[in-house]
Amino acid sequence: MAKMEVKTSLLDNMIGVGDMVLLEPLSEDSFINNLKKRFDHSEIYTYIGSVVVSINPYRPLPIYSPEKVEEYRNRNFYELSPHIFALSDEAYRSLRDQDKDQCILITGESGAGKTEASKLVMSYVAAVCGKGAEVNQVKEQLLQSNPVLEAFGNAKTVRNDNSSRFGKYMDIEFDFKGDPLGGVISNYLLEKSRVVKQPRGERNFHIFYQILSGASEDLLNKLKLERDFSRYNYLSLDSSRVNGVDDAVNFRTVRNAMQIVGFMDHETQSILEVVAAVLKLGNIEFKPESRVNGLDESKIKDKNELKEICELTGIDQSVLERAFSFRTVEAKQEKVSTTLNVAQAYYARDALAKNLYSRLFSWLVTRINESIKAQTKVRKKVMGVLDIYGFEIFEDNSFEQFIINYCNEKLQQIFIELTLKEEQEEYIREDIEWTHIEYFNNAIICDLIENNQTGILAMLDEECLRPGTVTDDTFLEKLNQICATHQHFESRMSKCSRFLNDTSLPHSCFRIQHYAGKVMYQVEGFVDKNNDLLYRDLSQAMWKANHSLIKALFPEGNPAKINLKRPPTAGSQFKASVATLMKNLQTKNPNYIRCIKPNDKKAAHIFSDALVCHQVRYLGLLENVRVRRAGYAFRQPYELCLERYKMLCKQTWPHWRGPARSGVEVLFNELEIPEEEYSFGRSKIFIRNPRTLFKLEDLRKQRLEDLATLIQKIYRGWKCHTRFLLMKRSQIVIASWYRRYAQQKKYQKIKSSSIVVQSYIRGWKARKLLRELKHQKRCKEAATTIAAYWHGTQVRREYRKFFRANAGRKIYEFTLQKIMQKYFLEMKNKMPSLSPIDKNWPARPYLFLDSTHKELKRIFHLWRCKKYRDQFTDQQKLIYEEKLEASELFKDKKALYPASVGQPFHGAYLEISKNPKYKKLKDAVEEKIIIAEVVNKINRANGKCASRIFLLTKNNVLLADQKSGHIKSEVPLGDVTKVSMSSQNDGFFAVHLKEGSGAAGKGDFLFSSDHLIEMATKLYRTTLSQTKQKLNIEISDEFLVQFRQDKVCVKFIQGNQKNGNIPTCKRKNNRLLEVAVP
Ligand SMILES: Nc1ncnc2c1ncn2[C@@H]1O[C@H](COP(=O)(O)OP(=O)(O)OP(=O)(O)O)[C@@H](O)[C@H]1O
Ligand SMILES: [Mg+2]
Repeated sequence: MAKMEVKTSLLDNMIGVGDMVLLEPLSEDSFINNLKKRFDHSEIYTYIGSVVVSINPYRPLPIYSPEKVEEYRNRNFYELSPHIFALSDEAYRSLRDQDKDQCILITGESGAGKTEASKLVMSYVAAVCGKGAEVNQVKEQLLQSNPVLEAFGNAKTVRNDNSSRFGKYMDIEFDFKGDPLGGVISNYLLEKSRVVKQPRGERNFHIFYQILSGASEDLLNKLKLERDFSRYNYLSLDSSRVNGVDDAVNFRTVRNAMQIVGFMDHETQSILEVVAAVLKLGNIEFKPESRVNGLDESKIKDKNELKEICELTGIDQSVLERAFSFRTVEAKQEKVSTTLNVAQAYYARDALAKNLYSRLFSWLVTRINESIKAQTKVRKKVMGVLDIYGFEIFEDNSFEQFIINYCNEKLQQIFIELTLKEEQEEYIREDIEWTHIEYFNNAIICDLIENNQTGILAMLDEECLRPGTVTDDTFLEKLNQICATHQHFESRMSKCSRFLNDTSLPHSCFRIQHYAGKVMYQVEGFVDKNNDLLYRDLSQAMWKANHSLIKALFPEGNPAKINLKRPPTAGSQFKASVATLMKNLQTKNPNYIRCIKPNDKKAAHIFSDALVCHQVRYLGLLENVRVRRAGYAFRQPYELCLERYKMLCKQTWPHWRGPARSGVEVLFNELEIPEEEYSFGRSKIFIRNPRTLFKLEDLRKQRLEDLATLIQKIYRGWKCHTRFLLMKRSQIVIASWYRRYAQQKKYQKIKSSSIVVQSYIRGWKARKLLRELKHQKRCKEAATTIAAYWHGTQVRREYRKFFRANAGRKIYEFTLQKIMQKYFLEMKNKMPSLSPIDKNWPARPYLFLDSTHKELKRIFHLWRCKKYRDQFTDQQKLIYEEKLEASELFKDKKALYPASVGQPFHGAYLEISKNPKYKKLKDAVEEKIIIAEVVNKINRANGKCASRIFLLTKNNVLLADQKSGHIKSEVPLGDVTKVSMSSQNDGFFAVHLKEGSGAAGKGDFLFSSDHLIEMATKLYRTTLSQTKQKLNIEISDEFLVQFRQDKVCVKFIQGNQKNGNIPTCKRKNNRLLEVAVP
C-alpha cells in the first residue's frame, strides 16, 4: 500500500537539515555537506531561518507544478520542505493580511539562478492572487514583460547562457484584497559596451540574433538586414549559437510578449529599426585621408551601409556623414569645429551604437511601465522583486564590473543590516535578551567606493571634470594617493609598500578586496566610460532624424535646448540610483533568496565543493546562521509547538485546555529540559540549542511509535470484541430460526395426516353425491345438447349465407372479378396495333393470368388476322392463297424462298397479246395464260442454256421460241409428274414427265428461272385444280432425271458463278450433270 504522507512540519522526512539553523555541529564543512546532501537528493532549497538558499540545479525539476503551488498555498513557512514558493507565500500573505510592503532580494553570482528565482516568485504570486478578466490581464502583462526585457537586456556570457546584463527592480502593486493592479520596473546600468564588443565565447544581446534568425524575409528586407550573422562586425561569431536555444522561436515569443504588454505594431517596427540601425552601424568603416593642413581626416570607406542606415532611420545622410568626420565644441559663445581622425571616428561610431542601444533599452522600460502602471489611484501595497546582476570576477574587469560589484556590496550591506535588524526586532518583540555577535560588516568597502570625498567614484568624477589632460593613468595615480592606506585597496604604485613586489598585480590595475573576494580592475577605459560622452554633432544628427523614436531618444540634440553643463557621469548616476533603491528597500519587509551556483560548467548533478564554499563564505551564510542562532537556534509559536509535542506529556495529551504557553511550560517541565536551554517569548518558545530540538523530535518519534502501538492495541481489542458480539448475536438468531423451523415441520406433519383422514371420508361422501348429480346432469345435458344441435342446424341453414366462412370466397370472387375487370379495361387501352405482324403485346400484370393472357394474345392475333383478311378483294385473296401455298411448299426447304416472299406473283411477265411478234403464239393458245415468262432451257446433251418462252395455261405447259414465238413443245398438265429443285439459292428446276407420254420423247425438262417459286407454285396449283392430284415437288441437292433412255443424276455443287444467278450446267458423263450454283 502506498504510504500516505501528510507533512505538517519542515522536520518531517528531512534530508540533512532543512534549516541550517538546526545544523549541529555548525561548521563550514557541515554546512557545505548539508547543502551537498540535499542537492544530491534534488532538494535545492534550504532555509537559514527565513532566508532561502537556492542552488541552481541546471535542470528542470518537477517542483513548480500547479499542484505544488496548491500545496504551498496558505501554509505556514515551516510546515513544508523549504521552497521558494513558501517564501513567496509568506511574503504575499503578510502583504495582503498584515498590510506590510514586501521586497524580495535575490542575490548571487552570475548564473546562480536569480532571474529564474524572480520569475518563480512572480509566477507563484500570479497563481495565488485574485482572478478575473481584468486581474488576469494585469498578471499576463507583468509576466510577459520578462521575455521582452530579457531579449534586449540578456546575453550569453561564459558564466550564463542567459545572463542579465542590467539590473532590474520591479514593484508589483496590489489593492487591499491582494489583487494585482500593475507594476513599476526600474532598470540599472545596462552593460552597453557589449553592443560593440564581446569577450571571447560570449554573445551580443539576444535580440540581434533573434531578429536575424526569426524575422521573415519580408521583415528582413524592410530592415535592410541579411540573415547571415557573419555580415555584421558587432556580432561575435565564435559563439553565435547557444545550445538548446532557438533564437527564431524566441523571436516569435518576444514579439508575442510585446503584443501582450501593449506595444503597437508601429512601435515594435520602430524598435526593430533602431536595433537594425545599431547592427548596421558596426559595418561602417573609415579610412584615413590626408588634408592640406597635414592633418589626417577620416572618410567613410563604403557609403552604402551609411545610406541604408539613413534610409532606415530617416536621417539626412550628409548630416550623419559630417557628424562622423567633424566634432564641434561649443564653449560660451564660441563654436570650434575640428576634424576627427580614424580612431576618433570609430570611437564616435561605437559611442553612437552604444548610446542608441542603451537609450532604446531605457525607453523600452519606460514604455513597459506605461503599459503596466496601475490604473487606479487607491492606496497600493507593494511587493518589490530585485534581480540584479551578480557579483562578477573576470580576467579583465573594467568599469562595468566595478559598478556591478559596488552594487553587490550595497546589497550585502543591506542584507546584513536588515537581517540583524529583524533578528534584533524579533528579540525585542518577544522580550528576549539580545546577545551581540561578531560578523564581517562590509560598510568599510562601501565607504571605499562611495565616500563623497575620498571614495573611488568621487575621485573618478573629480578626474573627469578636471580641466587639463585627463587619462586613466592620472586617475590611477590619484587613487594611489588617496586610497593607498585603505585596508581593502591594493595597488602596485601605491605608497604602501605591501604590494610593490606583487607581480600578480599589473601597474595599470588596482585591486579591491570585496566582501566576495579580491577583484583586480583594469583602469583603462574608466574615465571614458564614466564620462559616457557622445559628440554633440551625433546627438544633434539623431535628433534631426525623421524617426519619432530616435528623435525621442536624443532630446539633448535639440539645438533649442542646448545645455553646456556636463551631464552627470555614469558613476554618479549609478550611485544615486543605488542609493534610492537602498532607501526604497529599507522601507519594506525584506525576504531573501540567496542563489548559489553549484559548478562552473552549467551542468546538472555536479556539486563543486570549492566553488560552493567560496560563495557560502562571501555571502556570509555561516554568519547568517550564527546571527540567527545567537542565543536561540530555534523558535516556534506556542500553539504549533504544543500541537507537535503534546503527546510527550500526560497532561497535554490528548488535549490541553488552557493557554498554549502554559501547556508548553508544563510539557517542558515534565520532560525535564534544563531551564537554560529555552526561553519563553511573548508568542514563541525559543530553544537555545538544536540538540534540544532534535531530542524533542526523537522523543516525539518514539512516542509516535508507542502511540501507534496503543492505537493498534485498542483497535484490535475493539475489533475482536465487536466480532465476538456479532457472532453471539448471530448464534441466537440461528438457534431461534432453527427451533421455529423444527416446530413448524412437526405441526405440518400432524396437520397433513388429519387432512388426509378427513379428505378420505369427505371424498367418499362427495363421490357418492357426485355420481348422482352427474347422472342427473347428464340427462339434462343430453336433452340440451340435442336441442342445441337441432337449433344450430336450423339456424345455420337459415343464416349460412351470412356466415363469415362464405365471406372469404365472396371477397375472393369479387376481387377476382375486380382484377379481371381492371385487367380487361387496361388491356383495352393498351391494345397493340391491328397490324398482324405487330409483335407487341402488353406485359402480363398478374402471374395467375398467365394462360389467360397468352390465350387472349392468341385470340386477338387471330381476330386481327381475320379482320385483315376480310378487307381482301377476290384477286388479293387469290394472290395470298398462292403465297400461302408457296409458303407451305417451300418455307424452310428452299433457300430461295425467303427472297420471294416480298415479290408479288405477276404471272404474265411477258405480255404476249401486246407484242405483235407473238401474234401467232397468241392465236395458238386459246386458254387463259397463267404464266408467261422467259426461262432458260438447259440443253440435255451439253448443259448449255437457251431462252424459251414458258407458258402455263389451265391445261398445258407450252414452250416457245423467244424470237419467233413458234411453239416448240406442248405438255398437258396431266403428263407432268414431278418438279425437282435444289434446296439452294438457285432458280434451277426439272420438270419430270410421265414415262411414255407424247412429250416425254426427249426426256424431262431442265429450266432455270428468276421466278422459280412462283412458277412452281402456280404449276402445283393449276395441276391440282386440273387433275385433282397433288404435284410432287422434290427438293433435294441430288435427283435423277430421265433423258431419252438414260437416267441422269443432277448434282448441285457450290461454285463460282459467271453469269449472275443463272446456274451453269455441265454434262460430265452419261450419268451425271453438274449444276454449279452460287
Ligand atoms: N530553479 C531552476 N531550475 C532549473 N534551472 C535553473 C533554475 N535556476 C536557474 N536555472 C538554470 O540556470 C540558468 C542561469 O540562471 P539565471 O539566468 O537565473 O542566472 P542569474 O543568476 O540571473 O545570472 P546573471 O547574473 O548572469 O543574470 C538558467 O538559464 C537556467 O537554465
Ligand atoms: Mg539574471
